[in-house]
Amino acid sequence: MARLGRLSPTGRGQPVAPAGTAPRRSAAGARGRGAVSAQVHKARRHDSALKHVTGQALYIDDMPEPPDTLHGALVLSTIACGKLVKVDIAVASKMPGVVAVLGPTDIPGKNDVAAIGQNEPLFAVDRIEFAGQTLAMVVAETLDAARAAVEKVVVEIEAEEPILDIATALERKAYVQAPSTVLRGDPDAALASAPHRLEAEFSVGGQEHFYLEGQIAFALPGEDGDITVHSSTQHPTEVQHICARLLGCDFNRVTAVVRRLGGGFGGKESNASWVAAAAAVAANHTGRPVKLRLPREVDMVATGKRHGFDYRYTVGFDDEGRVRALDAVLAADAGWSLDLTPGVVARALTHTDNAYWIPHFRAVGYACRTNKQSNTAFRGFGGPQGVVIMEDALDRIALHLGRDPVEVRALNFYAEGRDETPYGQKVDENHLARCWAEVKKGGEIERRRAEIDAFNAANPVLKRGLGLFPLKFGISFNLPHMNQAGALVHVYTDGSIRLNHGGTEMGQGLFIKVAQIVAEVFKVDIDRIRPSATSTAEVPNTSPTAASTGTDLNGWAAWEAANTIRQRMVAYAAEHFGVAEADIEFADGTVRIAKPGSNQVLSFAELAKLCWLGRVSLSSTGYYKTPKIHWDPVAMRGRPFFYFSFGAAMAEVAIDTLTGESRVLRADLVQDCGESLNPAIDLGQIEGAFVQGQGWLTCEELWWDARGRLRTTGPSTYKIPGSRDVPPVFNVTLLDNAPSREATIFRSKAVGEPPLMLATAVWTALKDAIGAVGGRNAAVRLDAPATPERVLAAVERARQGREQSVTRNG
Ligand code: MTE
Ligand code: MOS
Repeated sequence: MARLGRLSPTGRGQPVAPAGTAPRRSAAGARGRGAVSAQVHKARRHDSALKHVTGQALYIDDMPEPPDTLHGALVLSTIACGKLVKVDIAVASKMPGVVAVLGPTDIPGKNDVAAIGQNEPLFAVDRIEFAGQTLAMVVAETLDAARAAVEKVVVEIEAEEPILDIATALERKAYVQAPSTVLRGDPDAALASAPHRLEAEFSVGGQEHFYLEGQIAFALPGEDGDITVHSSTQHPTEVQHICARLLGCDFNRVTAVVRRLGGGFGGKESNASWVAAAAAVAANHTGRPVKLRLPREVDMVATGKRHGFDYRYTVGFDDEGRVRALDAVLAADAGWSLDLTPGVVARALTHTDNAYWIPHFRAVGYACRTNKQSNTAFRGFGGPQGVVIMEDALDRIALHLGRDPVEVRALNFYAEGRDETPYGQKVDENHLARCWAEVKKGGEIERRRAEIDAFNAANPVLKRGLGLFPLKFGISFNLPHMNQAGALVHVYTDGSIRLNHGGTEMGQGLFIKVAQIVAEVFKVDIDRIRPSATSTAEVPNTSPTAASTGTDLNGWAAWEAANTIRQRMVAYAAEHFGVAEADIEFADGTVRIAKPGSNQVLSFAELAKLCWLGRVSLSSTGYYKTPKIHWDPVAMRGRPFFYFSFGAAMAEVAIDTLTGESRVLRADLVQDCGESLNPAIDLGQIEGAFVQGQGWLTCEELWWDARGRLRTTGPSTYKIPGSRDVPPVFNVTLLDNAPSREATIFRSKAVGEPPLMLATAVWTALKDAIGAVGGRNAAVRLDAPATPERVLAAVERARQGREQSVTRNG
């Protein structure tokens, strides 16, 4: 790649700049003078922090509404599967305030909101595929009027027997896509010849995103059929495309805009698009602005969640606990349609190995079609569902051999000579051993293990447990073409800078990080940079802000844009002052002309003005594509990830063996962020992700009734972790002195998703505590979420010393 060539003055294929300087040599940076970092690698609060906490941050529902604004409300199926006989809107249409009731025939273009598949209708046509499916939309003068009219729509469905669980779907071979396999070596032969062999099965549940701001879109019609859609989306370009698809117009007629989301967590990667499309169709139909905001209950019933998985595996190992082979089946509950399931299953399969070298490996992923919400992206995107398998296996192996599960884990880490993943990517700059050592040291493992054992010996009712977890997580979209980004930077003549890029701000701190990067390029104060709303009209053809790549991609693109302008400014200044370009130095909001004899300093603003007078363009786009990656989705081989992010966690829990209730008492985390761009933001991401992962594995339980209706539809029935669930002792460390070896922006690494998986340590710790009940005489099966009911049942089995899965000596 040409870009990399420029990055590589030393021919090592990487920028040479050490920490704290420009990411590659520039006119001034190359001289190494005054290149002290002011803006990156620095703790800075989120640009909207004060606005978030004072309620002044503007979300879509806070936008002033034009007086003719209409409001939408959705008519949903309450039947999970069947034939749609009729949707009678006669009465609803005549309700006060109702302007229109829209169904499939009111869509001028194609009735399909699929992100990557096909036939995912906005409004159901003849098949009903899940309880919560959208049938029609009422548009009325007020939200109350719209909701009242929804009640008057008469729906007739001939109900059929739904498929509601993975096992039934597997049995009937009901899939949304063909099974896929990651294979290395000969797992069958290796299992047959392994000194020991264990089989087990377990399952993990899904997870509701529970973003604080629900799905929302506000569509404003313009002239000639143009439309602007404000959408709470992680993927403005997909909103643009899907609105255009349903409207039957060119992409250039639709502008998708998003200033910020009140959380996305993957739930607004594909699901925001159909909400936006519904608003756009209604705005187009009525010629008036239409806002569609889903109430929490509708949001939970109508949108997809994290995929729940069922697992079955056989693992073969030697006397020391070294794994020789793994043969695993991962069956995902895809829900009724494809949505983003191919990516989720691929990521689960490419994370089944997690931190471990497994010479003979087979992981088969099934994407099971059930009559439930179509499951979608959720922080980790299948990664969390992949990494749990080996954690289960290694605990069983350790128990079987009477060894320490912490040591058995380390024994199996990727290491020199044992460093290729089953899908063919080398595990570079492996920080596993470092993270492991640091977490054990920081967590005082020996002392605490002894304390916990003593506690358990003395307490018949309460039991404590300790769990450790190592993490290796791949960064990049599995699909190479998605790893690209654009930015648009303007410098105004007062020296203020407007920054735009394709990434969306959902609370994760993307905007501040990218602003820091631009401030660093111009060596100006961060306050001079104004991040602006993401818009398809400013930066086109973008990827979703997902896969934790927001800063990696958009940060580089913005750097490119800013650096282009800076170079123009340098060139002009050199010409104007009659000096060499190397004599122009940017520092602390000023530009120094280091001409021998003179030592003129002007402000950045003065130079900007000077450049304008000299007719120099102070605006530039920037573009970036991730180098080195490639992936064969059929063979499931290649280098899907630019790099790996590493981490380790140690969690201590307590369980009450009478009630099954549990608590996390302490968590120690070490997370590799490369050379962090903003340690304050990264810390927040790590803490938040861990607690969100804790929720997934412990308290967040989705519950459908026997007819397939989701009954956990709000905070009263669906328990997300609260402030009291945050571990009272919570030590988070960023892995020190670990600049990325790859040419990532300022040697930083992505942080958005990886730490969610660190919560796996909590699940392991719970199993450890349960195991203490029966004196560790049987392996513990603990399906997630480990609700009090599940913990109690596992305690009961442990008490009876019952084998909790098939265990067999080879
Ligand atoms: N943090 C907050 N506060 N809100 C969010 O919605 N989403 C997560 C993570 N952190 C999220 C978040 C998910 S799923 C991803 S993929 C990344 O942020 C996306 O942003 P990034 O690529 O800029 O890290
Ligand atoms: Mo995150 S699940 O990749 O939006």
